[in-house]
Amino acid sequence: MCGIVGEVGNDNAVELLIHGLTKLEYRGYDSAGIYVNDEKGNDYLVKTKGRISELEKKIGDDVHGTIGIAHTRWATHGIPSEANAHPHVSEDGRFYLVHNGVITNFKELKEEYLQGVKFVGETDSEVIVQLVGHFAKEGMSTLEAFKKTISVLDDGSTYGILMIDRENPETLYIAKKKSPLLIGVCDGFNVVCSDAMAMLNVTHDFIELHDGEIVELTANEIKIQDANGQPVERKTFHVDEDASASEKGAYEHFMLKEIDEQPAVMHKLVQEYTNEDGSMKIDQDLINAIEDADRLYIVAAGTSYHAGLVGHELFEKFAKIPTEVHVASEFAYNQPLLSKKPFFIFLTQSGETADSHQVLTQVNEAGYPSLTITNVANSTLSREATYTLLLYAGPEIAVASTKAYTAQIAVEALLAKALGVDMGYQEAKDFDVRKELSIVANGMQELVDEKHDIEKLAQKYLAKARNAFYIGRAIDYDTAIEAALKLKEVSYIQTEGFAAGELKHGTIALIEEGTPVISIITDHTIASHTRSNEEEVVARGANVISIVSKDLAKDTDQIVLPTVHPLLTSLVAIIPAQLLAYYASEQRGYDVDKPRNLAKSVTVE
Ligand code: F6R
Repeated sequence: MCGIVGEVGNDNAVELLIHGLTKLEYRGYDSAGIYVNDEKGNDYLVKTKGRISELEKKIGDDVHGTIGIAHTRWATHGIPSEANAHPHVSEDGRFYLVHNGVITNFKELKEEYLQGVKFVGETDSEVIVQLVGHFAKEGMSTLEAFKKTISVLDDGSTYGILMIDRENPETLYIAKKKSPLLIGVCDGFNVVCSDAMAMLNVTHDFIELHDGEIVELTANEIKIQDANGQPVERKTFHVDEDASASEKGAYEHFMLKEIDEQPAVMHKLVQEYTNEDGSMKIDQDLINAIEDADRLYIVAAGTSYHAGLVGHELFEKFAKIPTEVHVASEFAYNQPLLSKKPFFIFLTQSGETADSHQVLTQVNEAGYPSLTITNVANSTLSREATYTLLLYAGPEIAVASTKAYTAQIAVEALLAKALGVDMGYQEAKDFDVRKELSIVANGMQELVDEKHDIEKLAQKYLAKARNAFYIGRAIDYDTAIEAALKLKEVSYIQTEGFAAGELKHGTIALIEEGTPVISIITDHTIASHTRSNEEEVVARGANVISIVSKDLAKDTDQIVLPTVHPLLTSLVAIIPAQLLAYYASEQRGYDVDKPRNLAKSVTVE
């Protein structure tokens, strides 16, 4: 996941591109780079490991241009380093290129076309620019070499690509597949960016690019052709100027924006809670206080409670501390028998939920230690608990929680890792949480990039549904209940999350012709059992939609999840469920961000 910007025809290319990159920094900040050319024979390439502020420091006063491309990187192939930072350059120094996405057949392409070519870094992206150089040397024009290169990238590859030929620096070459790219139409110049937010300071009129399209962009011309080389005419759309819309960027709803932000939140959490050497950045006093306890009590409401259910698995597996999870509003009035040395964890996005606060007040009166995991620093539950860990998810404005849920699970994973390592458990030492959350972030990105497939499924199965079920076993059951809450709260389809094996003990009576049953399958030990439960409902007329991990998927499964650590599958399995909820609500004509009867922060009991 990366952010890219390009510009052609404006004298202040550097300023424009750096401004754009800053707005896209949420998409990655391992390294950054810029290439500008003034069309008079002067050009400049500046790259750095680290953030955009570091790049700015490296850009000398002499660096200027009228055309340019820039990139902020979140590493997938190759470590964050200057060599791996974009833009990448062809061996002969002629072509400069930035890329967002993944080229899955880059090794094969290197073998087939680029033997003997000297590579500077280890990225899959560098292969693209070297291929253009290779085909141009064979005598093709720049456009032909660019198109030929795109044609050899395999089906699994995803890309947003911007390229400049220094021998013809009036044109930006652009290609897009499954990575967002917008052309911004300006007066006397044109821009291109991964997100409209990057260029709202120069234009509010954008053209969306579709998969397979190739564009030649000059200061005054936007030449789009489709995958068959046919010219494409497309109207601009306007991104509003008012404050709330600009917060949403080009998104129509905060919920979709917040779903899309989840990969960046994972990355941010890794940064906030781990060091590069893999050690953890969590207050040792907190670790000691939890280790001193004989039992953890996670207390929360709604979506946060569902994140707690996953936390239960994480704390017991990695830190081997017995853990209970409780609905706050029940715990307050029906307290279980507590262990001798309890430690309380309050999960709360807002930090203001009255039900949870009620329990914290009781806990404080009893003198027990506590931790609040929240998105809002200085919120009531944060102030009143002994310790706080923040979610760093950025403001969550849609009432239905999405990124706070996944951030809560990630923070629980980070804390469980820190505890387990401190207590010397091998399982925790073997759990490379930095790597695993990065894999999760990549997987989330793949899923959000394919949101239009999910939109179609919502249209087919949910747009008219009266009721629906999510089913799963073990950790997939935890995900299923959150998935069901998401769907019901924004689409008003009555939805139940059910333990897959439990359905037949009564609830199966509700299955009738066409009832959507969405099953989540990520665990190989129970996959065949959940498959049998799918069969049981199919036999009674249900429409089954399967959300299945890649290694367990069949050809007929509608949603395939990227493979992640078995205890982190909720983080990817929930993404299609959030998208199904979003699109079902939108298609049924509801106010997605503000579902009826709900509020973001529930401060009444
Ligand atoms: C559902 C949702 C709610 C909240 C619940 C607790 O999408 O957001 O279920 O999770 O009201 O709120 P917090 O996390 O602020 O304590």
